[in-house]
Amino acid sequence: MKIILGITGGIAAYKAAELVRLLVKKGCEVEVVMTDAATRFITPLTMQALSGRPVRLTQWDDMAHIDLSRGAEAILVAPATADFIAKIAQGHASDLLSSLCLARNCPLFLAPAMNRQMWDNPASRRNLAQIREDGVHVVGPLEGVQACGETGMGRMAEPDEIASAVLSSLSPKILSGKKFLVTAGPTLEAIDPVRVITNLSSGKMGYAVAQAALASGAQVVLVSGPTCLPRPIGAKFVPVASAREMRDAVMANVGGSDVFVSVAAVADYRVANPSSSKIKKGGTLTLALEPNPDILQEVANMKNPPFCVGFAAETGNLEENALLKMKRKNVPMLVGNLAQDALGRDESEIVIFGSGGGAKRLPRAAKTKLAAQLVEEIARAIS
Ligand code: CTP
Repeated sequence: MKIILGITGGIAAYKAAELVRLLVKKGCEVEVVMTDAATRFITPLTMQALSGRPVRLTQWDDMAHIDLSRGAEAILVAPATADFIAKIAQGHASDLLSSLCLARNCPLFLAPAMNRQMWDNPASRRNLAQIREDGVHVVGPLEGVQACGETGMGRMAEPDEIASAVLSSLSPKILSGKKFLVTAGPTLEAIDPVRVITNLSSGKMGYAVAQAALASGAQVVLVSGPTCLPRPIGAKFVPVASAREMRDAVMANVGGSDVFVSVAAVADYRVANPSSSKIKKGGTLTLALEPNPDILQEVANMKNPPFCVGFAAETGNLEENALLKMKRKNVPMLVGNLAQDALGRDESEIVIFGSGGGAKRLPRAAKTKLAAQLVEEIARAIS
């Protein structure tokens, strides 16, 4: 997806660096266009390094304002200053970025950032109302402490929120009206108040599945073990620690779900008698373990189960083990991956096994991309 990222001259321009990084990570080709004022806040070199492409600064090089907007799927201006919003409201074409916006044939997103009094000024209110009426998407702003030291409305929305607003709005809504329940991350099983048994799951694949389902228009509940990842914006987020907590959260939310995607690396065992005080060292320590509930199996064997998708993390014999697991758990779709190639990484390689006996191999790619392909596969299966 090609996106033009316009940067105008406000202090929030420093956040555009993070924004371009996020968009590139999500697979976008980002063409950065900066106004002269923006270059006073952040250098074109920084933006060139992060986008991997030359930064456009002037309209006098060529007919770039036409060419650029022709190939783009969206123009996003972040930060958009009060002055730039006024230009868009009036249809000015006084620099490259405003010309591009006027000559576009793709959606325009603006992330306003300005001092709270500028934001409250009737002229800004009028301009905002006008651009909204013209079909421009406005993301943010937020309330909070501003660079000038004042507190109020006008802080630019956070980069992850802007990226996800733009990407979600551009995705086809093939899952609108559908409800997804997704589990992600590891679980923690207490040994004593300060020690746990856990695993190396990062939660990246589960969060990517939740994000991809949201982007396709689904309503999403994400039940997550502890991770370091930002919560997907727009999902109902249910944080849990142990497998039993995860099971209870899943059962409390499964009603009305169309799809259950069980991505979490649930601990199969828990400590039978966790100590209520810190265990002191000395000699050999033996822990007795007892089995945890199998959440996926329980959901798949409900009376009217949602469409269940399991994940099989194996270290070998992927196909054979995955097919056995699919049968044992009674699920119509199972995603197999090799744990050593996937755990904690940004990329993976998966095989999607369907109940019809087919196996679809998706070559190594970013988990965000694989998740989008998997969600498309699920959408096809439930349609
Ligand atoms: N799963 C679950 N509850 C468990 C264990 C696993 O819901 N207690 C789910 C996982 O979320 C995944 C699928 O079952 O979707 C398979 O998980 P995996 O760890 O690969 O398999 P296990 O069933 O645990 O079998 P084994 O560890 O013997 O390979």
